[in-house]
Amino acid sequence: MGKTYAVINQKGGVGKSTTAEALAAGLSIKEYAVLTIDLDPQGNTSYTAGVKTEGVATVLEVLTGDAPAEDAIQHIEGGGDIIASNRALAGADVFIVGKGKEYKLKLALQAINGKYDFIVLDTPPALGILTANALAACDSAIIPAQADIFSLHGIEQLSTTIKTVKKFVNNKLRIEGILLTRYSPRSILSREVAEMAESLAKKLGTKLFKTRIREGIAVKEAQISRKSLYCYAPKAKVTEDYRCFVDEVLSKEG
Ligand SMILES: Nc1ncnc2c1ncn2[C@@H]1O[C@H](COP(=O)(O)OP(=O)(O)OP(=O)(O)O)[C@@H](O)[C@H]1O
Ligand SMILES: [Mg+2]
Repeated sequence: MGKTYAVINQKGGVGKSTTAEALAAGLSIKEYAVLTIDLDPQGNTSYTAGVKTEGVATVLEVLTGDAPAEDAIQHIEGGGDIIASNRALAGADVFIVGKGKEYKLKLALQAINGKYDFIVLDTPPALGILTANALAACDSAIIPAQADIFSLHGIEQLSTTIKTVKKFVNNKLRIEGILLTRYSPRSILSREVAEMAESLAKKLGTKLFKTRIREGIAVKEAQISRKSLYCYAPKAKVTEDYRCFVDEVLSKEG
């Protein structure tokens, strides 16, 4: 049985897509079979993966039942597979309605059960139907948080959502941990935020990942070049941090 991680935080720009991309690519380098699913209408992860988002079956068709998941899978040149997003997903709250609307992704993924060791879900900066589908379909949620105080405030709200989902939609849902991103080790403020994040994680019954992802220009450059960090900047500090993060995630797998 594969494991599905959802990378979530309703706050925008905290490193969800970057983390989803680095986790999937890092697992793929270790020769695991990995599928990324881009549930964000912005399609940032699809862009970095260098795949098509128009004229092909995407997660949109998968969610509406117009295409089986299998038909929407595209291969990423650097390794791994992806189901791309489409801009029209922005209307998801309007067209994914009715009974069982939170379970569309989970049901669609049952058809490819066993094909992948890991599935990584990238989600939009909102707590709408797309994130609900991600939380219903995953085993575990990873919460990236930018190392600033405002970013942490949003996590308490997210925690309420997770509790509701756990109660009504997915009682097996776990929070894998909070991951501090764009961290500046030398800033006193960053260290204070790390302490706050630690106590917040405890409150949510989860942990703060030991690994902290430092700020690094290679992230943006790799994304613009449509390459993974490991391929674009194998020696960058931020790449090293994501390698450690992947190892930390795997260490919990036993
Ligand atoms: N460690 C980092 N160092 C430098 N820049 C980073 C880092 N992580 C992310 N970024 C940059 O910050 C921006 C936001 O990151 P990202 O797209 O991963 O966030 P997000 O949470 O997915 O955003 P959204 O909510 O819009 O989907 C991007 O331009 C990305 O290149
Ligand atoms: Mg994103």
